[in-house]
Amino acid sequence: MATIPRHRVSVIGGGGNVGAATAFALIAKGVPAEVLVVDVVEKMAQGQALDISDASFMMPGTCRKGSFQEAGQSDVIIITAGARQQPNEPRSNLIDRNYKIIKSIMDSLQPIKPTAKILMVSNPVDVLTHIAQKTSGLPRNQVIGSGTYLDTGRLRNALSDITGVSPTSIHAYMLGEHGDNQFTGWSSARIGGRPLLEHPKMQNIDLDSIYTNIQRKAYEIIDAKGSTYYGIGICAATLAEALLNNTSQVFPVVNYVESFGCYMSWPAAIGSDGVEQSFDVKLDGVEKKKLDVAIDAIKEVCDKYE
Ligand code: NAI
Ligand code: 2OP
Repeated sequence: MATIPRHRVSVIGGGGNVGAATAFALIAKGVPAEVLVVDVVEKMAQGQALDISDASFMMPGTCRKGSFQEAGQSDVIIITAGARQQPNEPRSNLIDRNYKIIKSIMDSLQPIKPTAKILMVSNPVDVLTHIAQKTSGLPRNQVIGSGTYLDTGRLRNALSDITGVSPTSIHAYMLGEHGDNQFTGWSSARIGGRPLLEHPKMQNIDLDSIYTNIQRKAYEIIDAKGSTYYGIGICAATLAEALLNNTSQVFPVVNYVESFGCYMSWPAAIGSDGVEQSFDVKLDGVEKKKLDVAIDAIKEVCDKYE
């Protein structure tokens, strides 16, 4: 090991597809952290950690198998454990199975370091972030979920193909729920300081079909190969990096939005304290109705699993 990593990041569920992709992305992005792979199936955790550590020899991070107790003392705890969807199964269907798993993981992590940040990835991520906050004992700002960051990346890639502008210069979000109730914030979308929908190449474009392709993309991948993991791996590693490096970047993550009274995938600035500020996104009438549907859907499940 050439350098001593400054931070510790644990990936719970790291023996699985999403966890391993996340641990690998942390190393490949050059995050200077000790990455712990933790899983109830210890042999898989060991195998993934050994494999990923082979990728770390020229990078500042390190990777090894870790325990739940060590994970509880990490700077960032990423949770990717639990059941995943079968082909055509909505994410919301996973709640019964993953509620129990997340509750037992929170018990196993205790005592959790008071300054730790939890990043929920397991689905349904909006509701499970709420459950992780309640059961971890950490303040709301220290518990977030990956939310619609992945869907937003999918959207920006699609808009980049149409406009010819880099996805990083397209300010457009998928909002509301990382699930079937997500919606596109078309009215707030900007490109080069102008409304996105005024861009010449956005004229005569079928916005509904863009939305449907984004909303269905996970289903398409799961139907073809059983699981999605590369995209979320990069998203989770980028969010962990923002938490560790106090970057104050804005991401559409699951965070507690006071005005909605619930956790929701919504733009927030992320730094070393977790959520620094949440934003009041401009919505038109149709979008407001879609937001209300998402709020009702998330609250209904959160109330049931209090
Ligand atoms: P997987 O089946 O490959 O991995 C799940 C892992 O969790 C397994 O290694 C399993 O042993 C482990 N696990 C189960 N119970 C555990 C416990 N109590 N403690 C520790 N580890 C435990 O599944 P995959 O594909 O990695 O998906 C994991 C989750 O991530 C699913 O809920 C999936 O829906 C979600 N996901 C979320 C995304 C997002 O954008 N938020 C994107 C892709 C997947
Ligand atoms: C995704 O959107 C399945 O939530 C997962 O790729």
